[in-house]
Amino acid sequence: MEKENISYVRYLPKNANELAGVYSEVFAGPPWYEKFDRSQVVLDIQKEIGFETSAWLAMDEKRVVGFTWGYSKRIPDLEKKLGVSLNISDREVAYQSELGLLPDYRGQKIANNLVRLRLDDFLEQNLEYGIVRTKELPEPSVTFSWYTNKLGYEIIARYPKNDGRVILGRSLIGLRKLLV
Ligand SMILES: CC(C)(COP(=O)(O)OP(=O)(O)OC[C@H]1O[C@@H](n2cnc3c(N)ncnc32)[C@H](O)[C@@H]1OP(=O)(O)O)[C@@H](O)C(=O)NCCC(=O)NCCS
Repeated sequence: MEKENISYVRYLPKNANELAGVYSEVFAGPPWYEKFDRSQVVLDIQKEIGFETSAWLAMDEKRVVGFTWGYSKRIPDLEKKLGVSLNISDREVAYQSELGLLPDYRGQKIANNLVRLRLDDFLEQNLEYGIVRTKELPEPSVTFSWYTNKLGYEIIARYPKNDGRVILGRSLIGLRKLLV
């Protein structure tokens, strides 16, 4: 069903609890099949989304149906967080931390719009390179295919032991025109 009343708002701390529920529902499905404790997700969100984080929500009327966030990070700190070596010289990059949409709302460019709003914040902060962790195997995530086939991201690191997760990166210059 086409959802016509989607609006986009910046995350506010009052959204933490509802966002935690949506986050858990999104990642309970393929290809992630994760199980989260909601109160722990609330704490993680409060830790992750700080003053300088670009964090956006997609709203259907007053209900949170999708989310994205990301933030600037120095390469050594990001390597520590991700637990992999990135082979990139030390600089500030845009870490595209999270993106998700409730199943009923997918396939209508809502993620595209969220990613574009976040990109605008990154460009405003003069960040020039974007990094994201996603999954290539055993089945590629939607973002893996989208980012590599359509948005020009490249694999810059793989997790060892056929873990399936990869790190993608690309220059943010020229990306905006691909997010229609
Ligand atoms: C990834 C996700 C947010 C995409 O949301 P969405 O609103 O359906 O995506 P959009 O409609 O904006 O589509 C963006 C692009 O993704 C790709 N895409 C979307 N749905 C797809 C599907 N079912 N199969 C293949 N590609 C798909 C397309 O390339 C599309 O671009 P196009 O329409 O120009 O071809 C959503 O599928 C989701 O929440 N998945 C589970 C959580 C997740 O994997 N998050 C990312 C973790 S790294």
